[in-house]
Amino acid sequence: MSLTSEDMADFFTLRTVSWDNGRVKMIDQTALPNRFSYVVYRTPEQVAAAIKTMVVRGAPAIGVAAAMGLALAAQRSKANRLPDLFRDMESSAALLRSTRPTAVNLFWGIDRVMGKARAASSVREAKEEVAAEVKVMEEEDVEVNRKLGRAGADLIRDGDTVLTQCNAGALATVGYGTALGVVRAAVEQGKLIKVLVPETRPALQGARLTAFELARDRIPCTLIADTAVGHMLSLGRVDRVIVGADRITRDGYVFNKIGTYQEAVLAKRHGVPFHPAAPRSTFDLTRTHEQVTIEERGTEEVVLIRGKRIAPKGVPVSNPAFDMTPPELVTSMITERGLIGIPFEENITRLMS
Ligand code: MRU
Repeated sequence: MSLTSEDMADFFTLRTVSWDNGRVKMIDQTALPNRFSYVVYRTPEQVAAAIKTMVVRGAPAIGVAAAMGLALAAQRSKANRLPDLFRDMESSAALLRSTRPTAVNLFWGIDRVMGKARAASSVREAKEEVAAEVKVMEEEDVEVNRKLGRAGADLIRDGDTVLTQCNAGALATVGYGTALGVVRAAVEQGKLIKVLVPETRPALQGARLTAFELARDRIPCTLIADTAVGHMLSLGRVDRVIVGADRITRDGYVFNKIGTYQEAVLAKRHGVPFHPAAPRSTFDLTRTHEQVTIEERGTEEVVLIRGKRIAPKGVPVSNPAFDMTPPELVTSMITERGLIGIPFEENITRLMS
């Protein structure tokens, strides 16, 4: 069954983050799925707060958002000399860097914009170059995801069920998605695919965002409780696991949303292939897995569900937002440069340098 371009409206083409005449426009993901709305920011402080509170989330999306936040800092600076402009930008860069520690795309986006500014020979040129660069990053993100999607789509057979985790879709990128980009590319090839979507406690990105964007694109999906993952795999109801990533270190460890590791262990137990799908900007060739910080988020995400308390007051809570999957549980990694297989360390260095 092939879909027409009209069928593929919405999330096949939508922009989660965009540079809009010197302002940053984003879909407000905290309001989904109940309200679809945009917010517009004019200052780097507003963008930093949006990243921290997950108005925008997902590694590629926060990378581009942080870059745009820094472009706002450049634009608003009153500096007449380059060193003063750099000082203003570095101060906003420090704020943006402090928002979330795990996704390496955040740091990649900031460094790329800072590098563009530092290569300029006047304040005016720096401001123009930085604004042009974030527009390039916006376009590039969608292109890269489409390429990555095509690279992964050949793994999927007509009729397959894909298990994912969290939201690695259009909403986690500027557009199209990484793990869900692979699903979209397979759908564009005319394959009938079903996606199994764990709710992804505690922030519920699976239930709130992945189910929402798949439903809008009319891609069949079934929402399950996180606790049903092992059961579904044991019943043979999953053909392939495809997830996103926040950081893949040079030794092949995959950092992604909490719950990914248990999917990988269970997939191995039941002989189901497991693939992270991630662009070059998610690979960290400078670090090994021991050097990555896993974000610990507020306790309220665990003890409250949509504002309602579900645990006794004062109970100790731990809320790691990400986990680490070792390379021995990974079948292959899907990237815009093609598939990366074992030995991961060697092949990551070869393909991503
Ligand atoms: O805490 P979040 O919602 O920002 O976490 C997002 C994820 O873990 C995604 O799987 C990852 O960023 C990849 S998105 C293409």
